[in-house]
Amino acid sequence: MKHPIANLHRTSRGALVALAMASAFTCPAWAQTLNETQLLGQRLYMTSCGLCHSHPDLANKAPAPILSKATLNGNADDIAMFIKTGTETMPSFSVNFTDAQISAIAQFIKTLPEAEAK
Ligand code: HEC
Repeated sequence: MKHPIANLHRTSRGALVALAMASAFTCPAWAQTLNETQLLGQRLYMTSCGLCHSHPDLANKAPAPILSKATLNGNADDIAMFIKTGTETMPSFSVNFTDAQISAIAQFIKTLPEAEAK
């Protein structure tokens, strides 16, 4: 008898492939696969930055700009510096993250497609 987990695993992998294919059709910018550094950045971004930057309407204070490869002219060093320094309305992350983690986040931001003009 097959262990039920084996089936579960196969199902979720199939769903992932389907999702990846669907997004490749609807949004070519996402067709690129993220490398390990960018994946690390994505994880950190989703837990620490997305609250303000992916849902600007929910962030209660100043609305945060949508980030993309166009942010700060796509300059990873400038993005990293911004994350470390912060501003009056954005916290500094210099104590939360190592330089390597901040750099990974900057690399991930550079994979984000530019927001479409509304
Ligand atoms: C508490 C909400 C908040 C969180 C959390 C936050 N930010 Fe921000 N961020 C802002 C706001 C507000 C601005 C605009 C600040 C300004 O211009 O003074 C901003 C601006 C930026 C900018 C500059 C954008 C531009 O076009 O000038 C970058 C880059 C950035 N954030 C990256 C990040 C990253 C990466 C993280 C996670 C590590 C993060 N932020 C977490 C609120 C936030």
